[in-house]
Amino acid sequence: MSRDGDAFDMLLTEDRRFPPPEGFRERAVVSDPDVYEDAERDFQEYWAAWAEELDWFEPWHTVLEWTPPHAQWFLGGRLNVAYNCLDRHVNGPKRNQAALIWEGEPQDERRVYTYWDLHREVCQFANALKGLGVGRGDRVAIYLPMIPEAAIAMLACARIGAPHSVVFGGFSPESLGDRINDAGAKVLITADGGYRRGQVLPLKAAADKAMENCPTIEHCVCVARGFGLSKVSGVHMTGGRDHWYHDLIADASADCPPEPMDSEDVLYILYTSGTTGKPKGVVHHTGGYLTQVYATTKVVFDLQDDDVYWCSADVGWVTGHSYIVYGPLANGATVMMYEGAPDWPHRGRFWEICEKYGVTVFYTAPTAIRAFMKWGEAFPDQYDLSKLRLLGTVGEPINPEAWIWYHNVIGGGRCPIVDTWWQTETGAIMITPLPGVTATTPGSATLPFPGIEAKILNDEGEEADAGYLALTRPWPSMIRTIWGDDQRFKDTYWSKWPDTYFTGDGAKRDGDGNLWVLGRVDDVLNVAGHRIGTMEVESALVDHPAVAEAAVVGKTHDVKGESVASFVTLKDGIEGTDELVAELKQHVVDKIGAIARPETVIFTGALPKTRSGKIMRRLLRDIADGRAVGDTTTLADPEVVMSLKNRYEEEGKI
Ligand code: WTA
Repeated sequence: MSRDGDAFDMLLTEDRRFPPPEGFRERAVVSDPDVYEDAERDFQEYWAAWAEELDWFEPWHTVLEWTPPHAQWFLGGRLNVAYNCLDRHVNGPKRNQAALIWEGEPQDERRVYTYWDLHREVCQFANALKGLGVGRGDRVAIYLPMIPEAAIAMLACARIGAPHSVVFGGFSPESLGDRINDAGAKVLITADGGYRRGQVLPLKAAADKAMENCPTIEHCVCVARGFGLSKVSGVHMTGGRDHWYHDLIADASADCPPEPMDSEDVLYILYTSGTTGKPKGVVHHTGGYLTQVYATTKVVFDLQDDDVYWCSADVGWVTGHSYIVYGPLANGATVMMYEGAPDWPHRGRFWEICEKYGVTVFYTAPTAIRAFMKWGEAFPDQYDLSKLRLLGTVGEPINPEAWIWYHNVIGGGRCPIVDTWWQTETGAIMITPLPGVTATTPGSATLPFPGIEAKILNDEGEEADAGYLALTRPWPSMIRTIWGDDQRFKDTYWSKWPDTYFTGDGAKRDGDGNLWVLGRVDDVLNVAGHRIGTMEVESALVDHPAVAEAAVVGKTHDVKGESVASFVTLKDGIEGTDELVAELKQHVVDKIGAIARPETVIFTGALPKTRSGKIMRRLLRDIADGRAVGDTTTLADPEVVMSLKNRYEEEGKI
């Protein structure tokens, strides 16, 4: 949720402090506040000590080589991520411990994989991929619902050194196709369908549509999501290209030696929205990434042997990569995974799962917490949540009211809350409380993780109490480049100040030195914790034959944080009807996916522009949020704003 000035002034008066409960602190993985100082003495040494907890086939000779903006970590080291997530547990006492407990959206569906089970199936699928010609360095696209095969596919790719590119199942065929083509993926892994609120979404059909325009795809693997062949009508398998996952597994050997990867080999590509219409393929490498997701999972989620850990994100986003799959499994955790929606078939579903499996650590997004608040306490109150001992949030700023509700109603007043700030590009958690050390304040992500250096800078690069959030020192899991476009990597993150990473977020510091992340300062929206570029939605709208011009801004939304508000100028002679509004909304869904659907479409004769022709989004945001319209003196035609504002009010959109 973006925070405007007034709301922030209120936040600064937030004086509630929540120190770690004594019983929690005593048992915590980290409880000594000196950890910060220790890490500061030599941050490279600090990270190297974490890296030593992983299994390496070859030791590194140099911890860090920093040639801004390119960092290399643990040079010369060789390791395999799947080996670290599976084999080393299988070789020890955890071999028959549950690694993955999966529950389907239909309440009677459950699968449990022990570490040994998961190891076996990952090896089999890795061999199957090899059989399809996938080798080290080949890219594999994954377009799956939240089923165990999503984690299995990722780990199988990691095992053979094939970078994966996971595409969230809610993206449209066109978005999927763009991502496949940008990465030049050779194989696509999908499913016949996936459950969402009782419906089965036909993923294979969407994948087929995408593959019509994907010349690099040689094979497609399709998981039969249980109901497989019967319930999803129209699953078409193209001979020679398409294969059922279960057929491939049935014939595959469970013996697949892990590929010894260089610490700086690519582990995965993950596309995320930026300020242009084209998503960026964020590239993560192997050794540094695994080190930081391993360390942060252990410390921030305080992982203990008897924990049942649940992160409710989708594997299609970075949170799912780092905190469902790689971080928790590298730690040998028991990971809960749930396929469906939080309100299906009832609004207590998450709490039912927490009770049923004795979830102890729960990590979700503020947008979900605000939805739970809206639904009311009666739902969580029906379930025994007493096993929960630690709660986390990620994805957007959390408003103190939601924080307190989460603390009291879900956490029973006894669970510390870790509000974790990070990004697809940072790969792992960067700013966060340490649950056994930090006295938290509702709404603040508090302090950089040990070893991380974050500052608030102004345009000149000087430190300030309010300004841009910047990362001023390399970190192991940092983005290495943008796939196929290193110049864009340099321009996007490293051109504002020398050798300093620009996050795109605004932040302030309070009297205790705690950081408050205020939201994006660029043209990126955060809708229900998902990043959406305004330019992407604008290009989708302009792609419709009736549209001459479009401007998209974020409108404050009480549950999603922000929603998409669009202002559209139609071509001459075309009338703005209700049918056209519906058609334009659907057009955006078809082009990008349902997450980008505009909540409002307002037709206007002209868009407010500066004399140099730049659309004044600030004014549009004011209109969308129903605020008094700000300064219009630089506008080419101030009349446009007033008529637009009147229009917006008339249509009752405020
Ligand atoms: C926002 C998600 C405030 C922020 C892991 C960031 C947050 C963007 C927080 C990255 C938080 C994430 N407090 N804002 N705790 N966590 N954000 O790439 O604007 O999907 O830049 O990564 O989410 O979103 P992304």
